[in-house]
This record gives sequence, structure tokens and C-alpha cells, in this order.
Amino acid sequence: MSTRVGGRPDLRSPRRENYLTFGAPSIGEAEIEEVVDSLRSGWIGTGPKVGRFEELMREYTGARFAIALHSCTAALHLSLVASGLGEGDEVITTPMTFCATVNAILHTGATPVLVDCDRDTQLIDPQRIADAVTSRTRAILPVHLAGRIADLDAIHSIAMRHDLGVIEDAAHALEGRHRGRKIGSVSDLTCFSFYVTKNMTTGEGGMVTTDDPDAAARIKMYGLHGMDRDAWKRYSDNGYRHYEVHFPGFKYNMMDIQAAIGLHQLPRLPAWMGRREEIWRRYDEAFASLPVVRPAPADPENTHARHLYTLMIEPERAGITRDEFMMRLHEMGIGTGVHYRALHLHAYYRERWGYRPEDFPNATWISERTVSLPLSPSLTDEDVDDVIHAVQRALGGAR
Ligand SMILES: Cc1ncc(COP(=O)(O)O)c(C=O)c1O
Repeated sequence: MSTRVGGRPDLRSPRRENYLTFGAPSIGEAEIEEVVDSLRSGWIGTGPKVGRFEELMREYTGARFAIALHSCTAALHLSLVASGLGEGDEVITTPMTFCATVNAILHTGATPVLVDCDRDTQLIDPQRIADAVTSRTRAILPVHLAGRIADLDAIHSIAMRHDLGVIEDAAHALEGRHRGRKIGSVSDLTCFSFYVTKNMTTGEGGMVTTDDPDAAARIKMYGLHGMDRDAWKRYSDNGYRHYEVHFPGFKYNMMDIQAAIGLHQLPRLPAWMGRREEIWRRYDEAFASLPVVRPAPADPENTHARHLYTLMIEPERAGITRDEFMMRLHEMGIGTGVHYRALHLHAYYRERWGYRPEDFPNATWISERTVSLPLSPSLTDEDVDDVIHAVQRALGGAR
């Protein structure tokens, strides 16, 4: 693709030679060498590189503590467990998220209480949070969907009024800021993901940041079977040391092999963010005249982490459904994603709580229309041209 005729896209050569995979990671030689170094050292489990990665995350977010885990799902689960949540407690969150957000609540025994999101920002609606608070509510779990920061001022003020914890699902918002403060240093606990499609990766991986020393100590311990501090060192060259189990914990620790990748990804975030911004601007300009809804403008109070660039494909305007649009892009060699089909539409939650699509009309509306385009710093200018032309062609073909 990418061939141009007289400055306009060549509509006759629609398929790329190489498929543009959605969310492909950017892995450099430094990451590869660091992983090899771990493999050669013999220390491939939790070790010094995890410690260095946690230190980098503390510096990056400004939080006092950072605990590396093997996923954001683990980070969410342990944050909720460390907050003392369990049966009889309620946690308010959004249906417009990945299933891990709500599953983590369920695994503590607590009850997730879903409230609808705003249709434009796609973020949890604070008014609906306020309306959903009961005597059983213990925490609010906002999700910074696509990298857009939830209304943390309103959320914190509801939390203060009712003495609730705030645990942020910042899987999409590593580079985000709220009123200049880095995400990770704003709420009680913040959970990040380093899954392959995220703005930086460790293969699989997650992190909790917090200023609370007790929560940090509990999360560290619960993440490694509930064994006492530094139990991971029991086989080190200081000789064997006995450990003590204080809690029936989980096996959620990050490995040095994962941290080895993260150590070289994290310092690249500022440059990568610049490239994401650039691609974002190009998409915004190119799609301005198309019959699609583009992402809402960024909130000036916050820094958008530019994780996902999503279009809303309204069949009435676009002439095709979202799924047809995705198929057309796929046929042109462009991978896309859906973030998300809201949780109340999925079998388990629908059947367990009897949810209907109209219970969360905005989340349902988004679920049926949203599509995420490739947005990665590893995209070349040519790749970006290809995506733009494919979108134009997919919609143009429908007219
Ligand atoms: C919003 C959100 N929350 C949580 C998760 C879970 O992250 P992980 O895959 O690191 O467990 C994801 C991952 O896709 C996500 O997008």
C-alpha cells in the first residue's frame, strides 16, 4: 500500500505486504541484551532487576512505593485485598473496561457495582458514582480508559465524603497526569499494566504504586505466598534463610526476565509519547472530514496518555457497521482492536446480575461502535499513511 497517485492515495493497491499487527511492542537491542544477561546470570526469577525496575517506577511516578507483580490483574487483586475488601463490601466501577477490573473485585469476595460512563469521554460518570454509594461501599475503582484520565477531583471528593478508598486502574495511563501530578502518585493505590499491547511492556507484568507503607508491605508479602519480606532471597549467595508464612498469599511476583525488558522500556516513554502525539494529530486531521466520531478533545487539566486512538463507527452515518469496518481494514492488512465490549454485555456478568444492554446505555452505545486503530511508536510514517488510507477507503467504499 502507500503508493500515491498525483498526491492522492492509490485506491487500486489495497493490501499491505506485511500485516500491521495491532499493538505490536517496540523491543530494542538493549532489552534483548538485558534478558540474555539475566539468563546467563542464572538469576531469572525475582531478583535485583525487579528491585531496580521498582526504583525506576518510584522515580517515574513520584510514589513512595512501587511493587512489581506479574500483571495488572494481580496488581488490582492485591490492591483490593490489601485494602481489606471482602464479602459484603461493594466497589464502584465502570462496565467500559477490560474484564480484569471486575474479576479482581469478584476474587476478593466483594461485589462490583457498575455505573455507566459518559458517552463522549467514555469514562466513569462521577454523578452516577455518587448515586450508587451505599452503606456497604468501600472503594471506587476508576479506569483511565484509552489513556484519558478519569475525573479524579470529583471521585476523590465523593471518596472523602463517604470515607472510601480510591484504587486507580491505570493500565492505559502510565504517562498520564492529573493537574500536573503523575498518575501513580494521586490516589491510595494505582495499578499499571505492562502487557504486550500497553505503552510499554515487560511481556506480562504489572505494578502497584502507593504512598502507604503498610499497603506496600502487605502487597509485597501477599504477592509471594504471604511469606515474610525478602523471602525471594532465600537461595542467594548469603546462604539459605528460613521464611515464615503470615498470610495465605498468591504467586504474583515479577521475574527478573520481565524486569530486564522494563528497565529499558521505561526510559523511552517520553520519546515514545512524542511519537504517539504525532500519530494522534495525523489521525485527527485525516479523519476530520470522515463520517466517524473521533476521540473527544483532551481535558486541559490532565495529560492524556495516548494509549488508544478510537473511532466510533455509527452505521447510520458511516454506511457500514463497526465489524464490517474492521473486516475491511483487516483485508487491507491493518489490524484493529475493540476496547471494549462492555462487561454487562458478556455472558457471565449478564447472567449473574441479569443485566440488560439498556442498563448502561452509554457503555452499550460505545461497545457497538468503538474500534481502536494501530497507535504505536514503532509505526513508520508509511504505516501511518497506510492506516489513514485504509480508513478512508473502508468508509469511502461504503458511500
Ligand atoms: C483497563 C485494563 N485493566 C486491567 C488490565 C489487566 O492487565 P494485565 O493484562 O496486565 O493483567 C488490562 C489489560 O488489558 C486493561 O486494559
